[in-house]
Amino acid sequence: MDLSTEICGIPLDSPVLNGSGTFDPLAARRAFGDALIEDFPFAAFVSKTITRKTRVGNPPHRLWEAPSGLINSIGLPNPGLEAFVAGDLIELTGLPVPLIVSVMADSAEEFSLLVETISEVDGVAGIELNVSCPNVHSGLIVGEQPKETEALMKELRPLTDLPLIIKLTPNVANPHEVAIAAEAGGADGISMINTIKAAAIDRVHSRTWLGAGAGGLSGPAVRPIALAQVRAVSTAVEIPVIGMGGVEDADTALEFILAGARVVAIGTENFRDPQAGSKVRKGLAGALERRGFESLQAAQASTLS
Ligand SMILES: Cc1cc2nc3c(=O)[nH]c(=O)nc-3n(C[C@H](O)[C@H](O)[C@H](O)COP(=O)(O)O)c2cc1C
Repeated sequence: MDLSTEICGIPLDSPVLNGSGTFDPLAARRAFGDALIEDFPFAAFVSKTITRKTRVGNPPHRLWEAPSGLINSIGLPNPGLEAFVAGDLIELTGLPVPLIVSVMADSAEEFSLLVETISEVDGVAGIELNVSCPNVHSGLIVGEQPKETEALMKELRPLTDLPLIIKLTPNVANPHEVAIAAEAGGADGISMINTIKAAAIDRVHSRTWLGAGAGGLSGPAVRPIALAQVRAVSTAVEIPVIGMGGVEDADTALEFILAGARVVAIGTENFRDPQAGSKVRKGLAGALERRGFESLQAAQASTLS
């Protein structure tokens, strides 16, 4: 079955992407060799989130295994824009799939600088705007407020010809209101969900387990929430949705497409199995056939009763 599709005009061999910050192809190449890159697990690669300045990330502990999920408070460690452009970005543009660069900032000026700088690099197919990370206070406000979101999108839209995909936070009562504002401001696509605010308690020492005090929950535990939000958003906007939150296999990927996502992304599952993307892609045709779909397009066009 032909699984090719597109998101925001970016052609894709399959509807399976990675969630930002959950797969490092450069580290994977070092650990597993070139084979993993040649049979690349995803149809497009979304980079970890890059900020203007270097970030060391949050203090340890940074991870907690929750029932059917993971709480992380990594805190967006990254080399900063300049070092990223001069280093990893060059290698990432050599991947055999389209590259989407994720950026985050705490002001419109910094977002503008990130968008303009990344747009000048050959080989970048799109930009994802992270306004949803629950670990860092800056950036949260924009994604929680429809007016802020629309204003940011209006400011960034004229700065680039690349597709702008906005990654929404699930930590709001009505994510579709933010999505409608993002679309009105000129967003080309929506990526969702980011992690859900969560905490873990170290009861032996009577303190919070995570160094930052709290973090974000991901993995199968969040899937029902992600599906509800993807459904609410995809029925509210015309622009396509990249759906994620607990995708584990082809069947759970298909759930997101039936909920209204154009394509899906895999996050936490990559830590359990670096080939999760390939497995989902390979299983998708069978999952579609078992449910009576003649093509991926038929599933993408279907609506839930
Ligand atoms: C360890 C870890 C790091 C993450 N880093 C980022 C990041 O840098 N930028 C971002 O937008 N989302 C980040 N996320 C969120 C994921 O991209 C994804 O939205 C979320 O985990 C839900 O998908 P999942 O349940 O399949 O993991 C991170 C998630 C995890 C678990």
